[in-house]
Amino acid sequence: MTKNYRKYGTEELMELIDVFNVSESGAAKIRAVLADEPTPPDAGVFFRYYNDRSKVQEFERLFAAHVGVKHVLAVNSGTSALIAALVAAGVGPGDEVIVPAYTFFASASAVVVAKAIPVIADINESLMIDPDSIEKLITPRTKAIIPVHMLGFPCEMDRICEIAARHHLAVIEDTAQACGGTYKGKYLGTWGDFGCVSLDAYKVIGAGEGGILTCKDDFQYMRAQSYHDTAACWRPDRYGKERMEGELFCGENYRMSELSAAVALAQLRKLDWVNARTRYAYHKLQSLISLPKGVKWVTPNDPEGMCGYNLAMLFDTQDMAVAAQTAGVVGGNAANATKGVRDWHMAWNWEHITERKSATAEGCPFKCPFAKDVPQYNKDSWPVSRAIMMRVGIIAVSPNMSDEDIAKVAERINEGLAKCLK
Ligand SMILES: Cc1ncc(COP(=O)(O)O)c(C=O)c1O
Repeated sequence: MTKNYRKYGTEELMELIDVFNVSESGAAKIRAVLADEPTPPDAGVFFRYYNDRSKVQEFERLFAAHVGVKHVLAVNSGTSALIAALVAAGVGPGDEVIVPAYTFFASASAVVVAKAIPVIADINESLMIDPDSIEKLITPRTKAIIPVHMLGFPCEMDRICEIAARHHLAVIEDTAQACGGTYKGKYLGTWGDFGCVSLDAYKVIGAGEGGILTCKDDFQYMRAQSYHDTAACWRPDRYGKERMEGELFCGENYRMSELSAAVALAQLRKLDWVNARTRYAYHKLQSLISLPKGVKWVTPNDPEGMCGYNLAMLFDTQDMAVAAQTAGVVGGNAANATKGVRDWHMAWNWEHITERKSATAEGCPFKCPFAKDVPQYNKDSWPVSRAIMMRVGIIAVSPNMSDEDIAKVAERINEGLAKCLK
């Protein structure tokens, strides 16, 4: 007689045990318990809609309450959150969007995918986008600014929002690396019109893969929903006519899966702990390191609000940074750059943009008839940002560091810097 299987049952749950790297004996115990469990009458549908136990919807509700924002849309990556935000803001052909020269390439790539032109601003010694550089780049075609809270450090959101308001620009915060961080007491991602968090494996909290889009405006939220789910399953009447202009258009499938949301929910409960512990370790470690002459700390725009998983320092010269990195004392990119190793966190390496590459021969959006005066960048277009980034040294900080660990790291850095810079 053939066995009857449920669509989703204990077999799938058992498979998940491996993902968590449980010990062999632990896994065997869990398997034994699960094997004895009767198959649930309905294991549910792994779909965020039509499901009164939806983990995705629960996550959206809890994240909205956590950061205090009206709308939250869980998506499948930080990149898709950025693209959905740009589309929701009405960014498209002929528009320009300002992004910093120091960010993961996805911030600029999202602009191109949204059919607009990325215009690349310099950073300052906070390592974040320089508001003065933003001002200089605004043209009648500018539609939005994407400040990126790199390394968990906040951008100067008050100044950036003031500039945006004066020029009627949307602000889309790339909060991929700074979930739970604040600037002047307000959550990053909630200063601008949109916030875009990444939940990929290397971020403050993760879900395997995933992203969070936060948004204040009802209409823009509806457009983000439309773009993130071309099947429009979220609509009150899924197959109904457009309720207002701008609601229905062809989109993608950026839906978050129930499995990712289950992990994200557990991670959200740890978020405050992660950031509080990391900040503690950051400040403690910083207090135990005495920087030698010619080296200074990067001061985050809000040292109490930053996430704190990286301590950054600035050497007076690139040679000093190369020496400290080659000796393995600090991380950073100066040493690799001297060997020609590229890194897609810096605009001068983005040949997709500098060479205006496109997925098809027509060259859109760079050659789109709507695009005017497209910036002609090359690898030497950002000497200010490059000179800063080539002097940066990074020390990783983790929430799990004990006081003893911190003291050991401080000792290693103090000795290492004294030795390699003498
Ligand atoms: C600053 C920044 N923006 C966007 C992204 C894209 O996020 P995801 O990997 O979830 O698509 C990343 C990921 O590394 C990032 O660091």
